[in-house]
Amino acid sequence: MLVYQDKLSGDELLSDSFPYRELENGVLWEVDGHWVVQGAVDVDIGANPSAEGGGDDEGVDDQAVKVVDIVDTFRLQEQPAFDKKQFISHMKRYIKNLSAKLEGDDLDVFKKNVESATKYLLSKLKDLQL
Ligand SMILES: *[C@@H]1O[C@H](CO)[C@@H](O)[C@H](O)[C@H]1NC(C)=O
Repeated sequence: MLVYQDKLSGDELLSDSFPYRELENGVLWEVDGHWVVQGAVDVDIGANPSAEGGGDDEGVDDQAVKVVDIVDTFRLQEQPAFDKKQFISHMKRYIKNLSAKLEGDDLDVFKKNVESATKYLLSKLKDLQL
C-alpha cells in the first residue's frame, strides 16, 4: 500500500486504497470518501431480528457517529470557511510555500497548472469544506 504525505506538514494524508482521479494535470486529486459509522459495535444479543420486526440498523448503537472514512483515517482537520478573497490569499501563500518544496518537472507541472486548479476550486468554493 502506498501512503501519500503532505509535503508541507509531513502528515500522511491519503493512501492508494482510496480510489482517486487526477484533475488539472494531476495538480488536484479527487478522492472518493464514504460515510461510515465510527466504532459501531454489532452486538449479537441472540434475538431473531425478523421475529422482532427489526430494521436495517438493528444492532447499531443509537449513539453511532458517522464520519467520512478518509477524513477519519488520516485525521484531516476542517478549516474555517473561506470567502473568495480569503481563499485567493490563502492559495497565494500555499503556492509560495509548496513551490519552495518542489523541483524539476514537478515544479514545472505545478506552476503550469496551479492557476487553473485554483480557479476550478474557486468555482466550487460554496460547496467545499476545507
Ligand atoms: C506558509 O508558510 C508559513 C511559514 O512556515 C506558515 O506560517 C503558513 O501557515 C503557510 N501558509 C500556507 C497557506 O501554507
